[in-house]
Amino acid sequence: MKTIETPRLRLRQWTEQDAEELFALASDPDVGPRAGWPPHQSVEESREVIRTVFANDHTWAIVLKETEELIGCMGYYTHEESNISIGEMDAELGYWIGKPYWNRGLCTEALRAMVDHCFNTVGYETLWSDYFVDNPASGRVMEKCGFRDTGEVNWLSHLYHGDERPVKVMRLDYAL
Ligand SMILES: CC(C)(COP(=O)(O)OP(=O)(O)OC[C@H]1O[C@@H](n2cnc3c(N)ncnc32)[C@H](O)[C@@H]1OP(=O)(O)O)[C@@H](O)C(=O)NCCC(=O)NCCS
Repeated sequence: MKTIETPRLRLRQWTEQDAEELFALASDPDVGPRAGWPPHQSVEESREVIRTVFANDHTWAIVLKETEELIGCMGYYTHEESNISIGEMDAELGYWIGKPYWNRGLCTEALRAMVDHCFNTVGYETLWSDYFVDNPASGRVMEKCGFRDTGEVNWLSHLYHGDERPVKVMRLDYAL
């Protein structure tokens, strides 16, 4: 998988050695539920997530270049995997950042790099993302990266607490 660099970040493949750092971030109840998944309960669960959910060519660990600290996750879903009804030349982007690293512009930096990768390396035509309406910080990150509100609102009952919270669908088209 291609490693992606930004001024402060490296987006690289997940390894099982990340399990303890992943657990430290993903056990926080303020992280996973905002993205639709339950907090991790053990380091072993985090290791299993790395093995089963992150082991593909479109899910990256986000690390700080300066210290190699793990800070979050960035990736995309193909049209077969997406929550949204999207075309074959489209992808849905998803991400999270651990709470100690919030509000430093790090997710925006990582998402911009992923948008560039999806359009200019993979060749997708339209990118999508969605966020729970009670999680406006994520919508703000999407807006800063050029995504626009489609006006579409979904209910994703298969997500953690998805029955209680609508999600807003955002869209970004490739432009030369
Ligand atoms: C949402 C999340 C990814 C943002 O990461 P981050 O690295 O803090 O993002 P950035 O610093 O790049 O940008 C955050 C923006 O949201 C804004 N923001 C923060 N809290 C906010 C709130 N409660 N309401 C509205 N905007 C908010 C910040 O001010 C900033 O915007 P600005 O640059 O215009 O000031 C991170 O908080 C997170 O992972 N949360 C839990 C999981 C999650 O929500 N994943 C996304 C699922 S769709």
